[in-house]
Amino acid sequence: MTPTTLTAGAIGQPVRRIEGRQKVTGAARYAVEHPADDVAHAWIVQSTVARGTVGDVDPGPVLALPGVLAVMTHADAPRLQDPDDPELAVLQSPRVAYRGQIVAAVVATSLETAREAARVLEVPIRAEDHDVVLREGHPEAYTPEVVNPSFPAETTTGDIEAGLNDAAVVHDATYRTSPLHNSPMEPHATLAVWDDDGSLTVHDSNQAASTHRAALAQVLGLESGQVRVIARHVGGGFGSKGSARPQLVLAAMLARAVGRPVKLAVTRQQTFAFTGYRTPTIQRVRLGADADGRLLAIDHHALEQTSTLKEFAEQTCVATRMMYAAPNRHTTHDLVALDVPTPSWMRAPGECPGMFALESAMDELAVALGMDPIELRVRNEPEAEPESGRAWSSRNLVACLRDGAQRFGWAERDPTPGTRRDGRWLVGTGVAASTYPAYQQPSSARARALPGGAFVVEIAAADIGTGGRTALTQIAADALQTGLERVTVQIGDSALPRASVAGGSSGTASWGTAVTLACRALRQRLEAHDGDLPPDGLQAEASTDDLLKGREDLARHAFGAQFAEVRVDADTGEVRVPRLLGVFAAGRIINPQTARSQLIGGMTMGLSMALHEASIVDGEFGDFLNHDLAGYHVAAHADVPGVEAHWVQETDEHLNPMGSKGIGEIGIVGTAAAIANAVHHATGIRIRALPIQPDRLV
Ligand code: MOS
Repeated sequence: MTPTTLTAGAIGQPVRRIEGRQKVTGAARYAVEHPADDVAHAWIVQSTVARGTVGDVDPGPVLALPGVLAVMTHADAPRLQDPDDPELAVLQSPRVAYRGQIVAAVVATSLETAREAARVLEVPIRAEDHDVVLREGHPEAYTPEVVNPSFPAETTTGDIEAGLNDAAVVHDATYRTSPLHNSPMEPHATLAVWDDDGSLTVHDSNQAASTHRAALAQVLGLESGQVRVIARHVGGGFGSKGSARPQLVLAAMLARAVGRPVKLAVTRQQTFAFTGYRTPTIQRVRLGADADGRLLAIDHHALEQTSTLKEFAEQTCVATRMMYAAPNRHTTHDLVALDVPTPSWMRAPGECPGMFALESAMDELAVALGMDPIELRVRNEPEAEPESGRAWSSRNLVACLRDGAQRFGWAERDPTPGTRRDGRWLVGTGVAASTYPAYQQPSSARARALPGGAFVVEIAAADIGTGGRTALTQIAADALQTGLERVTVQIGDSALPRASVAGGSSGTASWGTAVTLACRALRQRLEAHDGDLPPDGLQAEASTDDLLKGREDLARHAFGAQFAEVRVDADTGEVRVPRLLGVFAAGRIINPQTARSQLIGGMTMGLSMALHEASIVDGEFGDFLNHDLAGYHVAAHADVPGVEAHWVQETDEHLNPMGSKGIGEIGIVGTAAAIANAVHHATGIRIRALPIQPDRLV
């Protein structure tokens, strides 16, 4: 075997997205763009009440319409196995748990016919009183045992009240965040195709082919080998496609019922009903410090909602358990089960809303102490992870704050609020810290060497627009000690070696480790091999299941610092953010080009949360009032004139073979607080509820 040319590392190179040309030319196919013979189209009918019972549906008139193939309701839907997530028990019961829940579906030979049939289908629902409003002092609030994914809901260190009593300065305030909906460019969509042998293939837009296959097989009562989930290109997810959504199960049921492939494309409006959202939060933070700004007590309480179907407990206070040193600490979460859709994952669930509260409170404490907010944070750097006492694998928050301060020009800042004016604009700057855990999850991969020097690497990973496929190609090329052009990485198919979700900012670290191990094993095989390769090459497979056991030894987190400049119109209260600057410490950066995009994307989403995004709850009708992109504004180009992402060099030997932490979520953490803190600096007005809309500032 002649060794392939050794190439200086592909990791760290700003490689363009491998599938970029396919995407911009339209050649990349998304879920329901895949062709299928004799395909039929489905349309969903949703509940018009928030709580009630579906009565008898007469499908006759709709079935008589030309082109209609089937109507399905709870009365005639095939029985499913009980899923882990009751949201997947589609049409299994006449009970309605929230407005917008799926109560019927229609299949027709054309999309237009399906849509019209769904519009005219009469689904009577007996309505009952509902409660959809999260509010302080809710009589049914309770403390769950755990919050996501499996943290204790409540933690206590020391004596919080004693710590507050001893403090020279106490800050006590309540912060609120709104319900938020993910708005990926490609809404959820599924094409389901049954084979004659009873096996099922779906093209589905999701963040995890392997786990979607498992969920779908379980609910349908199939062996996982009978189900294949393909998601080669995915137009965003942000967490909303991290776990299976109802349309995946429904498409499979409908396709079996009509004996034809079925396409089910969720509409933008429907994404506001049953694809998950970020819970609203009401958070009380109490901080106590001595006169030098040393924290003596940190208390963080979050009230949030779940549905009557399932307990989903956002881990809002978990970052408060590890951010700053303090001898006395208490964190806890309360939940209320309302007649609402089940909340789900949205970029940095927990850390994002929780750090809005904590980092706003730190800024308020700095003002009360007359201290610089950066110095306050530096003064409260913990030597080891608070609560657990574990050593840090690496913690470079201070480096991020210092580097960011220099780049941003923080030194010239006059801390007095409400004193800088440029024409009609009040000008201010703010800072906040970021953090996100460096998770890794079990995955497996296969690498094959072909005669002629090409390599194929296979893993059921998902590239949801992040550049994951490109990063894996770089990682594989380095591990194989070959050039990028020789490596093809196949992803997005549950038939490939099992992989974890593109979520929790863990994708590249998890998959990259499996890819590295498989490639190293392949190199060993190649080195031991004499003569030409057989026609189908040589291959090696690896899994990280064993490697990841016993990783509780160290505290592994990424950190960052967010800086914002805002201008507030003194007459209208309009807030503009001419400049956002983030500096992150996230281990080794695999691809500076796609990484920068990820971080800028997260910061943009944080700006959007700070100023624009809110799903407005209609207490009377029990739904979100705004359920499209006209009523739910997502930051557009004109809202984001200047955003910069940087990183500090961070070497951390305790992560994975690449030395990388995740970068998908940390960019959104702390951004909203930096902006709210800057708004206070500009105006002297402290906004503790998001979004910061103009009426709050006039
Ligand atoms: Mo992300 S909310 O972990 O997909």
